[in-house]
Amino acid sequence: MAMGKGGRVAVIGASGYGGLQTIRLLQGHPGLSVSFLGGERSAGQRWSSVCSFLPLPDDPTVESADPDRIAACSDFAVLSLPNGLACQLTPQLLERGVRVVDLSADFRYRSLEQWLQVYAKEAGSLNRTDATLCSSAVYGLPEWNGPAIAEAKLVAAPGCFPTASLLPLLPFLKQGLIETNGIIIDAKTGTSGGGRVPKEAMLLAEASESIAPYGVIGHRHTSEIEQMAMEVAGQEIRLQFTPHLVPMVRGLLSTVYARLRDPGLTAEDCTTVLEAIYRHHPCVQVLPVGTYPATKWARHTNRALLSVQVDTRTGQLVLMSAIDNLIKGQAGQGVQCLNLMAGLAPETGLPLQSFYP
Ligand SMILES: NC(=O)c1ccc[n+]([C@@H]2O[C@H](COP(=O)([O-])OP(=O)(O)OC[C@H]3O[C@@H](n4cnc5c(N)ncnc54)[C@H](OP(=O)(O)O)[C@@H]3O)[C@@H](O)[C@H]2O)c1
Repeated sequence: MAMGKGGRVAVIGASGYGGLQTIRLLQGHPGLSVSFLGGERSAGQRWSSVCSFLPLPDDPTVESADPDRIAACSDFAVLSLPNGLACQLTPQLLERGVRVVDLSADFRYRSLEQWLQVYAKEAGSLNRTDATLCSSAVYGLPEWNGPAIAEAKLVAAPGCFPTASLLPLLPFLKQGLIETNGIIIDAKTGTSGGGRVPKEAMLLAEASESIAPYGVIGHRHTSEIEQMAMEVAGQEIRLQFTPHLVPMVRGLLSTVYARLRDPGLTAEDCTTVLEAIYRHHPCVQVLPVGTYPATKWARHTNRALLSVQVDTRTGQLVLMSAIDNLIKGQAGQGVQCLNLMAGLAPETGLPLQSFYP
């Protein structure tokens, strides 16, 4: 185990978008260092031939994800893998004392049964049986689960859409300020959300100069958002979530519509609600009334930019949230969790200032 605060981190899926961003964030991190690079197709290659634009000291070789090799040099592992792989590797790492942050969806549901219904076919893991691990994993939204993340052996980092949507929504559910039925989430993401593996829908000719919804009704992030929303609200919630692919590389904008229980509340009142909850959370910035977040302001940062508006004629609450899907929506949030697990302040080493434009 690491002495004191900090630790050594294996990055599995190093050549993918989440892995690359994790390595970039750990370079120059004051308490965490990269100890192992794992991959499949890239295994056996020098890092410089996998990723020449991000040189690493001594140009390490990417290895296959052997649990003994990882445990020999690492306190933590970040698993940035396609769905259905982390659930195979994680038990072997935990047995060897390596604490895990999984960026995939393998441990996001408390119920294995639900995961089997939503993901098993795509992930090719119909025989998965690790129900206890699913129920013991901590959902890695640091602003809401910080103390549990700090103690966790296994953290399931949230999806990018759930992160952007839950951060503005949860304060209003927690305080009982909105109706729990009729919540609508309309969200847009760039093509890096699909990962580095080639996919037809992400070809320039397909995705450029076009905006299209996908996964309408029943997108798998719907049930992930509902799970956390229900835990915070303490009651059943069924909501509508529609994602859209927009022609940009990175960035995610989520607009959440809900009905205020007290139609007399103003945008200023609702902004105060967010400010009170996130006052001590530097990875969330609440914008003043009338300033609406743009994905460009969040690019390359681990910050969620939130804003509120209210239609006082109808009591309709409109919540807006912009993040970088690869940072606060994935690798940055993973490092934020690692920081907590390593006894560091959650924002340690993470970029918070806007790189705009
Ligand atoms: N992209 C996003 O915006 C985003 C946001 C939140 C969460 N996520 C989730 O994060 C995870 C990673 O996403 P990504 O976008 O980073 O994916 P990606 O770019 O497609 O990268 C996948 C990585 O997995 C590695 N890999 C595949 N099979 C492997 C195996 N059997 N053993 C070891 N490594 C293996 C690949 O390595 P090789 O090249 O060496 O095969 C590659 O580095 C996914 O579960 C995704 O759903 C993504």
